[in-house]
Amino acid sequence: MNTQETNREIKNKVNQLLTEMTLEEKIGQMTQVDFAVIAVPDELNADDPVDKAKLEEAVLKYHVGSILNAPFTPHSKAQPVETWRKVIQTVQAVSAKSRLKIPLIYGIDAIHGATYTQNSVLFPQAINMAATFNPELSFREGEITARELRASGLQWNFSPVMDIGRQPLWPRLWETYGEDVHLATVLGTSYIKGHQGNDYSAINKALTCLKHYVGYSFPINGKDRTPAWIGERMLREYFLPTFEAGVKAGSPTIMVNSAEVDGIPGHANYHYLTTILRDEMGFKGFTVSDWADIKNLHKRDQLAATEKEAVKMAVMAGIDMSMVPFDFSFYQLLLELVKSGEVPKARIDEAVSRILTVKYQAGLFDPKAPVLRVEGNFSTAEAIETNRQAARESIVLAKNANNVLPLKKESRILVTGPTANLLSVLNGGWTITWQGDDESLYPQDKLTVFKAIQNKSKGKVTYVGGNSFADGIDIQKAVQEAESHDIVVLCLGEKPYTETAGNIDSLNLDPEQINLAKAMIATGKPVVLVMLGGRPRIISGIAEQVSGVLLGFLPGMEGGSAIADILYGDYNPSGRLPISYPRNTNDIVMYDHKPMEAFEFNTYNPLYPFGHGLSYTTFQTGGLMLERDKINKGDNINMTVTVKNTGTVKGKETVLLYLNDIAASVSRPKKQLKAFKKVELEPGQAESLSFTLTPFDLSFIGVDLKRIVEPGDFKVIVGDETALFSVTDQ
Ligand code: BGC
Repeated sequence: MNTQETNREIKNKVNQLLTEMTLEEKIGQMTQVDFAVIAVPDELNADDPVDKAKLEEAVLKYHVGSILNAPFTPHSKAQPVETWRKVIQTVQAVSAKSRLKIPLIYGIDAIHGATYTQNSVLFPQAINMAATFNPELSFREGEITARELRASGLQWNFSPVMDIGRQPLWPRLWETYGEDVHLATVLGTSYIKGHQGNDYSAINKALTCLKHYVGYSFPINGKDRTPAWIGERMLREYFLPTFEAGVKAGSPTIMVNSAEVDGIPGHANYHYLTTILRDEMGFKGFTVSDWADIKNLHKRDQLAATEKEAVKMAVMAGIDMSMVPFDFSFYQLLLELVKSGEVPKARIDEAVSRILTVKYQAGLFDPKAPVLRVEGNFSTAEAIETNRQAARESIVLAKNANNVLPLKKESRILVTGPTANLLSVLNGGWTITWQGDDESLYPQDKLTVFKAIQNKSKGKVTYVGGNSFADGIDIQKAVQEAESHDIVVLCLGEKPYTETAGNIDSLNLDPEQINLAKAMIATGKPVVLVMLGGRPRIISGIAEQVSGVLLGFLPGMEGGSAIADILYGDYNPSGRLPISYPRNTNDIVMYDHKPMEAFEFNTYNPLYPFGHGLSYTTFQTGGLMLERDKINKGDNINMTVTVKNTGTVKGKETVLLYLNDIAASVSRPKKQLKAFKKVELEPGQAESLSFTLTPFDLSFIGVDLKRIVEPGDFKVIVGDETALFSVTDQ
């Protein structure tokens, strides 16, 4: 059957079902509750975490259409794959007992692999995936995550985060693909395609959810869930395109911004949720609220005088499903609102038909659909190897004075610092638990930075440090030990976190870490700094005085091994920064800044710029040639450039192609990334790369807030070369 036929058939089925459903059943479909609502109390420590009576109450009495999250003990935590299969089976068995046998859709956060299934393959976080500049790896991550979810009986992933990371204080920066719109678009859509394939009902594919629509990532004060002020031009230029691309790539669900933009909370924003998302972008799937955010319109935002008014506001703004999450208040209030005529039945039918359509598309209505086998699909050797490669490509070598790296296998290494011997600091939030900070739950066969160095080394390796991030480090002892070692590997950074728990007041590192760094530098031994964590914490003073700097961010479960691979030269680093790494706490300027941000006394002066990343070999990029120097508006323009490995070892190089619109009716960035390609080259090998820029690449949001291409001159920038072309208005 072709897609059109399938779509028509699904539409008929949904319409038929709608005629059979009671109002209660419809509103239940719009209700999503947390696992806690159907859980056996923790104290009972039962084998089966589902309380059947509670589940039946939720599904048969309240007609709940969706459940999310993992069992609580006392926080959601990863469960064995068999437990998940059983839980989902139990849930669907109860839905099969309901009058119309409408299946539930179970949602889970699997943002770098199947977070809540024990021993899953946990990839580098999104900020690292962006640093790979390798869409193929992002595609593979999507594929592997979907497979592991399906092997766990799960089918709906609250991922990818399509927010743009332009506020480095924000505790979810690392969940984004960085500051650049083009990079985030390419990486995010590759992930979606790998995750969903052409048909997400396939046995090894699963649905994605774009989040958090829109503007969530740009809080003015840097704290999670606080206001952003984003003018409509900026919104359309920087924050909407990734979501639009995600919709085009086929993601059928969208989670809404938990905070507010321009004074309007995301969950009450009709303009964003309906006018832009539906009328302009043509999104056909369903929207889901974020955690308790309809209640928040009343309780937190004081936008609605009562919770009932909040439900009305959110549903009328365009929310289709409410992540309530702990009670049935949404169901009850919405029922009252429809009965009293305050919310029209047509709006309910619209929301429910969207939800049912996705459920049909996902194949959920097929009771005989087999569950993917665990064997051969879960935590396979091949997936682990892909993960290790992703981790390697995601680490940025930012400084390598006097070729301190690669290390010699015989060197005697002192490893110290709060991030040196923990797995949690490599993974960050959404790892096994929500905050990712329970080290005791991490798989013991994975390697920390220290252990990975120890494994590879043929010399003496000593660790000075504690057993947790908070443990103080005996600086005196570290200084003494340094004496008998050749090199110090100093691991600094952040403990794991996400959301409001990760709020900070400054990007500065804590004084203990600075003191340790100063003491290590003062030993006179060469120091290699390894930074781990989700944000660019300020290291300028330290970076100046150490010999080497590796920016590891959150490279995932294979991160320790990957860092050791790079330190010893078993892998030639190829990661590039997906953000501008600030030099000072308040000098937050993005690479695609406006001309006035680098004019007269103003400068773009980060510690490391966007796109920065060194290699153990050298590359030369040159011979930039445009096929034409003049095109008509609406045409593509082709160009080529040659890249050569001019060093002595094999390596991967990413060629970044930027564009500048030389004069425009709205001020344009000095340069903006429009294309990139990553190639692997043997020493002496050269390759010619071709690029095509489309009208979209030349466009911007004009004075009237519409996307336009303006005739005039454009500059292409690749490495040290530039080339001009003009666009005419024919
Ligand atoms: C987060 C979302 C997440 C949801 C469900 C919220 O607190 O903001 O990103 O998907 O919880 O766990």
